[in-house]
Amino acid sequence: MTVPGPPRPPESRRAARVLREEAARRARAGADRRARVGTESHDRTLAGDPSRSGAHRTRPAQAHGARSSSASAGSAPARHVRPTRRGRAAVTVFVAAGLLFAGIPALTSLTAGSASGPEAGSAKLFAVPPHIDALPVPTFEQATTSTDICGESSVRAALEAGDDSAAIAAAGGGEAFRAAVATGAASCVDLADPSRIWVVVNKRRPYAPVDYRPAALMLPDGVRSVEGGSLRSDAAAALTSMVTAARDAGVGEIALESGFRSYETQQGSYGRQVAARGVEGADQVSARPGFSEHQSGLAGDVVACAGACGTLDDLAATAQGAWVAGHSWEYGWIVRYVDGGTDVTGYLGEPWHLRYIGPDLARAYHEGGWTSLEEFFGLPAAPDYG
Ligand code: DAL
Ligand code: ZN
Repeated sequence: MTVPGPPRPPESRRAARVLREEAARRARAGADRRARVGTESHDRTLAGDPSRSGAHRTRPAQAHGARSSSASAGSAPARHVRPTRRGRAAVTVFVAAGLLFAGIPALTSLTAGSASGPEAGSAKLFAVPPHIDALPVPTFEQATTSTDICGESSVRAALEAGDDSAAIAAAGGGEAFRAAVATGAASCVDLADPSRIWVVVNKRRPYAPVDYRPAALMLPDGVRSVEGGSLRSDAAAALTSMVTAARDAGVGEIALESGFRSYETQQGSYGRQVAARGVEGADQVSARPGFSEHQSGLAGDVVACAGACGTLDDLAATAQGAWVAGHSWEYGWIVRYVDGGTDVTGYLGEPWHLRYIGPDLARAYHEGGWTSLEEFFGLPAAPDYG
């Protein structure tokens, strides 16, 4: 037997009635929503997937509109809360934009009908509308510079003519040429060909044949040659230009200490270093025969002169040395072995050892801030003989 409680005050009864009415209203609204799910499951599942940021942003506005309609029309038929054609179009646009922002991987996995990874579960729940299939799927192929410069007949013609400068110009200039070589898009450019201004010789790249000798050697005009050194004709002309410019700029005299050295000459040079320092010490300052840039005729060791000429080691502390470091690139030369570059070049710094690569490549080298030919052309480091 239930014992009735004390009579409730009028305020309590009113509050209880309000609560009952509210519960009944919510129950009706819930029935309305369940009925709509049956007719709009396509969009509903889209709205219900919070992992899709576009859907998440778009659908609550629709859901809110549906609730408002329901509230005002009571148990209005589903067609009253379905989006209009224009509304659906707007949803389509928003959904498409949302998908794109949500990430191409998600879009491609859905359109491909496969889903894997952390989003696999939500992707399976996500029914893809037919119009999504029709959207163009953007492709993001890696932009490459892979058009081989050797496809250009002008590049090939210049190479065949032995005109290195023209080949570089036909490739689009020094930087374009360098980039093509470094990315493997220069199949006709041989960095091992010692007759080319772009040849790279180092401890891993000997001459072939090992006793290679350049064809045209000459003393540079108007340049003191301390040891009677010669250079290849293009390098000789470029050294004359550089030395003249330094003199005209009031920097002082720059002389050529050592230019071309044959295989046999290098045997003597390296041998003397071994005698003085041992093999390990010699290998830091002198190339073994068949591995020296001097053998190409494209390298020159320069010194500063003021009446008498200083030593190689003196150069860095002179006005000429500072000028060479800052301006030699303007005449097609680079300082081949810089301090701190031993891990790449295999040699201690040699501020006097200039290598001619021509004005176009030297400009690219300077402007790119490169400190080794190996890195410039994307070659492996050559710290030792391997
Ligand atoms: N001193 C440079 C490395 C040479 O011998 O070629
Ligand atoms: Zn040298």
